[in-house]
Amino acid sequence: MENYTICNCKQVTYFDVENALHDCAKFEDVEATFAHVQQVTHCSTGCGGCHDKILVAISQIMNG
Ligand code: FES
Repeated sequence: MENYTICNCKQVTYFDVENALHDCAKFEDVEATFAHVQQVTHCSTGCGGCHDKILVAISQIMNG
């Protein structure tokens, strides 16, 4: 899996999201997981245009 920038405003990459998920206890709720990732990486706190891309990446990582 190649790394790529998901959030241009905050320069957050796919690997940053993956790392943020490592200390997330459980992955049941995508929106709660998103909130955690956002807190750790500050992704999607600029224009918000990356929101859906981040959700997709989280789902991908969650589903292995
Ligand atoms: S691209 Fe992520 S907040 Fe703008």
